[in-house]
Amino acid sequence: MRLTVVGNPGNRRVELFTGAALAAGLPRPEVLPWVEVLTGAAPPPPGTLVRVDSPGEDSEVDRLLRRSARAARHGELIGLADAYAGLVDGMARLAGGGASLLNSPADVAVLCDKRRCHALLSAAGVPVPAALPGIGGYAQLRAAMAQAGWARVFVKPAHGSSAAGVIALAVGPRRVQAVTTIEHTPQALFNSLRVRRYTDESQVAAMVDRLAPEGLHVERWLPKAGLGERVVDVRVLVVAGRPSHVVVRAAHGPLTNLHLGNARGDLAALRAAAGPQAWSAAMETCERAAAAFPGSLHVGVDLMFLVGWRRHAVAEVNAFGDLLPGVLADGRDSYAEQVHALTSGRWERWRADAGAGKVLTCAA
Ligand SMILES: Nc1ncnc2c1ncn2[C@@H]1O[C@H](COP(=O)(O)OP(=O)(O)O)[C@@H](O)[C@H]1O
Ligand SMILES: [Mg+2]
Repeated sequence: MRLTVVGNPGNRRVELFTGAALAAGLPRPEVLPWVEVLTGAAPPPPGTLVRVDSPGEDSEVDRLLRRSARAARHGELIGLADAYAGLVDGMARLAGGGASLLNSPADVAVLCDKRRCHALLSAAGVPVPAALPGIGGYAQLRAAMAQAGWARVFVKPAHGSSAAGVIALAVGPRRVQAVTTIEHTPQALFNSLRVRRYTDESQVAAMVDRLAPEGLHVERWLPKAGLGERVVDVRVLVVAGRPSHVVVRAAHGPLTNLHLGNARGDLAALRAAAGPQAWSAAMETCERAAAAFPGSLHVGVDLMFLVGWRRHAVAEVNAFGDLLPGVLADGRDSYAEQVHALTSGRWERWRADAGAGKVLTCAA
């Protein structure tokens, strides 16, 4: 088995996957840096299995993806749509040599567009929050919210990740409140690790209007279930169709992403609170979500249980959501699990079945 990993040098995911491959007795995967993919390196040849890692968190790669002469300032929310177009193009280049990709370009193109991902999941029967399509700015957002009778929405950049640019917006008769990772300056928006609260409507409107040309995905804000004092959701890693590694994310505010200083929660307590039926229904939803992406060895499903625990909904599915350090399932971490799926033949079998629509078709 010949493996190539595409990623940024020093990326932890690249190192952990390489370690898992070596531990399973596979030859050391070749590393193909994203910079080389984007500057014309030859794509991997036929007979190679190619794992693609996120091109994120590297300013030169980001600049190349955006085809811009200017590097973004640290944290600057800029050119998200251009970076997405560059990623789609880069995936096509990678596939161009005839290698077999463990993340198909078609799947990545959908997974990295929250609007398309939401539409595909919805069509596949996966519970997702209701959405307001085609929002082009703040005035239109408010009009659409009024029309729908919604007082609370999540506004997400279509091509964002890691809560960058996400706004949890609540509107009342006299005031608005936005909870967001955005640091708003008159010149630009910056992504920050500190969650801020804005109540000045002109600032909120400016943020939405600045993000809108990059594409927005707007959803109804669903009330998430809580454990103790905290609101929770779960990241579920699904490898070759099987939900395996789960992390509970517990927060005091509406954004649960762990890098924002939120805590990992207690999975046993969450399963006890949800009960076996709600838990297995949620896991079936994760399987169904993964089956919508049969060209992806792994996907990371962000799943919210709603207050009362009986219902759940998927907030998003991540193409690059497998960094879950320290979480084991059957004694394997998330990378060993993927290597196991490859070496045991489970990946090939599941991919064929999911691709042919043979997965979950008999589910109630
Ligand atoms: N419709 C929603 N209702 C309530 N919370 C949501 C909703 N959508 C997302 N969230 C929360 O917002 C955070 C980020 O959302 P997500 O869709 O996963 O985007 P990102 O790619 O930025 O991680 C998560 O903590 C999630 O629980
Ligand atoms: Mg997420």
